[in-house]
Amino acid sequence: MKKLSVALIGQGRSGKGIHGLFLKKEENLWFDVKYVVDASEKRQQIAKKEWPEAEILASHEALYGKKDIDLVVNATYSHCHIPVTRDLITHGFNVLCEKPFGRTAYECDTLIRLAEEKGVKLYVFQQSFYAPFYRFLLDVIESKRIGDVVAIDIKYNKLGRRWDWQTLQCMLGGNAYNTGPHPFGFALGFLGFAEDARVAWSLMANTPLFAGDSDNFCRAILVAKDKPAVEVEISDLDAYTDYTIKLQGTLGTLKCTPDGYCLKYVPLEDNEARTPVMTYLENEAGEPIYCKENLTTVSEEGSFGGTAFDIGTRELYKNIYENITEGKEMYVTAEMAKRIVGVIETIHAQNPLKVRF
Ligand SMILES: NC(=O)c1ccc[n+]([C@@H]2O[C@H](COP(=O)([O-])OP(=O)(O)OC[C@H]3O[C@@H](n4cnc5c(N)ncnc54)[C@H](O)[C@@H]3O)[C@@H](O)[C@H]2O)c1
Repeated sequence: MKKLSVALIGQGRSGKGIHGLFLKKEENLWFDVKYVVDASEKRQQIAKKEWPEAEILASHEALYGKKDIDLVVNATYSHCHIPVTRDLITHGFNVLCEKPFGRTAYECDTLIRLAEEKGVKLYVFQQSFYAPFYRFLLDVIESKRIGDVVAIDIKYNKLGRRWDWQTLQCMLGGNAYNTGPHPFGFALGFLGFAEDARVAWSLMANTPLFAGDSDNFCRAILVAKDKPAVEVEISDLDAYTDYTIKLQGTLGTLKCTPDGYCLKYVPLEDNEARTPVMTYLENEAGEPIYCKENLTTVSEEGSFGGTAFDIGTRELYKNIYENITEGKEMYVTAEMAKRIVGVIETIHAQNPLKVRF
């Protein structure tokens, strides 16, 4: 199998710690890193040691005119995603852009159109869609194992402080733009990316636990006709939530983290059928009682054996390889990433935060 050549822009947590980590692994059967780009001289020096076979450059502009690149990975600061990706597309490169794709759906759309015009591929690194836990939840919903799912809660929560660039509105930071592409992507996924999916309600806050001016608390409810209500929360103020996603079905509940799940439901066939009693309830002694019983339930637990960071990254790169070489359809498209940005853009519009930087 012929490997494709990659230029990797950005040597931070993402470029080094996610993309670089995967691209160095033996399980990467598809891509060779030919160029590594970072604006920081210090990170260029580190990259020289990390990638002895690659050419190390200081700017994405230094890639222009190079004919031996099949894919450029844009893992720059978030506010650079649109301008750097635009430049790369204009110069004829296929691009894999980190999330968030952009600040507005409109600017994402302009790049999707530009890529079509230039005849190049445009991908967005929304690797969570390839994570086993997300696929498992889609299966549970489809199979109706806990009945028809009526409510979905997604919580990317923790208690903590931040003071890095990811706290700044001007750099496209904050929980909604930074973490949000994953849970809002799931939310739209659970709504089947329905045309009418919309933000029904949202709230954002910037609190003293965030040094910058963007949101460290974001909660929104997304709805679509005949679909469950999906509530997404990305909070740095929550010390006590023990799940990432919870589904409530008409027969029971599932909760999971990216690592594992548990579920419990009531099989109707194993429980005595009930009809409503229209007078009071009493025990054998004639005392008033609350309406309760010992139900027969089914419980199950399991683990997923991988997350968005390992399996998700591998599967997304594999999908890109097969898309470039065989035309295989992408499971996650730039169009989907644009929809996700549209949700985040709407939530910001509904909750204007004071710009301080
Ligand atoms: N998909 C995911 O799960 C995931 C996880 C982490 C970060 N990210 C995204 O990756 C991007 C980078 O985040 P990070 O945590 O790696 O940041 P970081 O601060 O750790 O590193 C960013 C690096 O990119 C370099 N850089 C920035 N803009 C550049 C430019 N225009 N040209 C050349 N070099 C440039 C910087 O010098 C720095 O070395 C962000 O958009 C972030 O949202 C995605």
